[in-house]
Amino acid sequence: MKDITPPELTPPVKKAIDHWINKYPADQKQSAVMSALMIVQEQMGDGSLTKPLIAAVADYLGMPRIAAYEIATFYSMYEHSPVGRHRIYLCTNISCKLRGSDDLVAHLEQRLGIKLGGTTSDQRFTLKPVECLGACIGAPMCQINKDYYEYLTPEKLDEILDNLE
Ligand code: FES
Repeated sequence: MKDITPPELTPPVKKAIDHWINKYPADQKQSAVMSALMIVQEQMGDGSLTKPLIAAVADYLGMPRIAAYEIATFYSMYEHSPVGRHRIYLCTNISCKLRGSDDLVAHLEQRLGIKLGGTTSDQRFTLKPVECLGACIGAPMCQINKDYYEYLTPEKLDEILDNLE
């Protein structure tokens, strides 16, 4: 990470990150790192976080690049390769599994023509398995982009996907 030359953050991105920085004490700018990574992921590049982008965030927040990299690679909401326009994060952890997530996986794989982890050839959907998203009471569930969908069935999933552009 040390030898990377990061890109310049754009003015709108800096402004969006500053909004989060201002929520914390002046000497703790790095507390905004998770929001800053998400902003950069969404507003710069191809929707994924490259090492140069992570370095740019770290430098802007005045924190070690490796610390920002550790965070960016720990949480499932950060992408590290190009993804589809809609990201489906299907929970396959125990509560969701006991309530039928395997059927949902099979249904989505068949409908989209991809395996878990894949992206459709039209770049419309990426299907990813995730660990518990903290909504076990609504199992089986998934997150699509930024929204949670609970008590899913294959039919409900079809309806949700049909309504996405
Ligand atoms: S196990 Fe699926 S949300 Fe917790």
